[in-house]
Amino acid sequence: MTTSDVDATTASGGPYMTEARHRAGPVLDPETQVTVARRLFAHIDNKTTDSADEILRFDASVYTDPRILAREREMIFDTTPVIVAHSSEIARPNDFLRVSLPGADVLVVRQRDGGVKAMLNSCRHRGTALTLEMSGNKKLFMCPYHAWCYGPDGSLDFVTDAATVGPIDKKSFGLIQVPCEERHGLVWVIPNPDAAISVAGSLGPDLDAMMAGYQLGGYYCYRMDAYERAVNWKMLFDAFLDNYHIQYLHAKSVAPFFYNNTMFVQDLGRNSRIVSTRKRIDEIRHSDPAQARLDKYVTLGHLVWPNAQLLRQPTHFELFTFVPDGHDPAKARMEIRLLAPEPAQSPDQINRWEKNWEILLQTIVDEDLANCESLQKAMTNSHLKPLLLGKNELLNQIFHRELIEALGGDSEGGIAHLYSRNW
Ligand code: FES
Ligand SMILES: [Fe+2]
Repeated sequence: MTTSDVDATTASGGPYMTEARHRAGPVLDPETQVTVARRLFAHIDNKTTDSADEILRFDASVYTDPRILAREREMIFDTTPVIVAHSSEIARPNDFLRVSLPGADVLVVRQRDGGVKAMLNSCRHRGTALTLEMSGNKKLFMCPYHAWCYGPDGSLDFVTDAATVGPIDKKSFGLIQVPCEERHGLVWVIPNPDAAISVAGSLGPDLDAMMAGYQLGGYYCYRMDAYERAVNWKMLFDAFLDNYHIQYLHAKSVAPFFYNNTMFVQDLGRNSRIVSTRKRIDEIRHSDPAQARLDKYVTLGHLVWPNAQLLRQPTHFELFTFVPDGHDPAKARMEIRLLAPEPAQSPDQINRWEKNWEILLQTIVDEDLANCESLQKAMTNSHLKPLLLGKNELLNQIFHRELIEALGGDSEGGIAHLYSRNW
């Protein structure tokens, strides 16, 4: 990011600002808004933040051990819905996306009846990937090997030279379907054919209601980019759960616009919400908290279990997802989406969203991702002592608490023994 980028955005109150308006009005109910305002104003005055009771120590193997990755795959990713797209990315019938999830390459396809199906990207003959394209629109998926053809719903339509192949019951040789649900304008998948899916159940009543209030189904995915990096997925995710590093790692980019190390946390269990604030909140900081309207000054962050951070910025949403590699704990893919309240049509609108996108990528790719890669390399130091999460890294502590629980706590094979609050 250059100084001119910062200057260009200062006039509109900081990075990520446009004249766009959210589809729903202020989303903090009046009572919560007063609580948040009081707490955030006090934190800014006193240089404090919502925090955990104690420091949490943990062993670096959490980021490097392939046995932990295998357990995460089995106990988390094989049982829990994860976000794979915004609905607008597959808006038309037969639009498809190819999605890599741990242990499965999945096709997500918009159906003629408006629904969405997800199926393994693997031919039922000898297993070839039906497509290597990441997205597109297809009336038919034709296998490149022997040209068996499948419909957009995964049904096996045609077997070449069928008389010579032998008897095939086409009805039972469709593509293998995996659980898929569209909810809150997002497409969720579990890459395990035997799992049952309930997005509402996974979100829990609080976050489910919050997300319903955001009306995300009316938004448009302005851009999506994916980054494969030599980093454990949790290390990447951890970089998006604290705002302690903004002033330091992002000193040359977005730090001037945000209060560092200051956040309000709603611990909702597996899913949590945090509120952090821009410096611009100083405009209202000395007013009566009961009258404060926070909407344009704060960012609402949501830890969407197990691997997503949804940020509600004052004018739009940003969605970050962190996907483990199937086998290598030191590899992951991060996807970034900018969700705009309306399609960008005029050159002026496009320019504004492009500026937002540029700033977002410069901050994340040049700073967060680069830092995480060097951090992952440091995990190979053989005499590394336990790492720690400070009391101020509360959302990270919540994530690791839920991770310990999801992987079986202190039962055999669990990871509780890798964590400690005792010094
Ligand atoms: S592997 Fe697909 S047609 Fe043979
Ligand atoms: Fe960051």
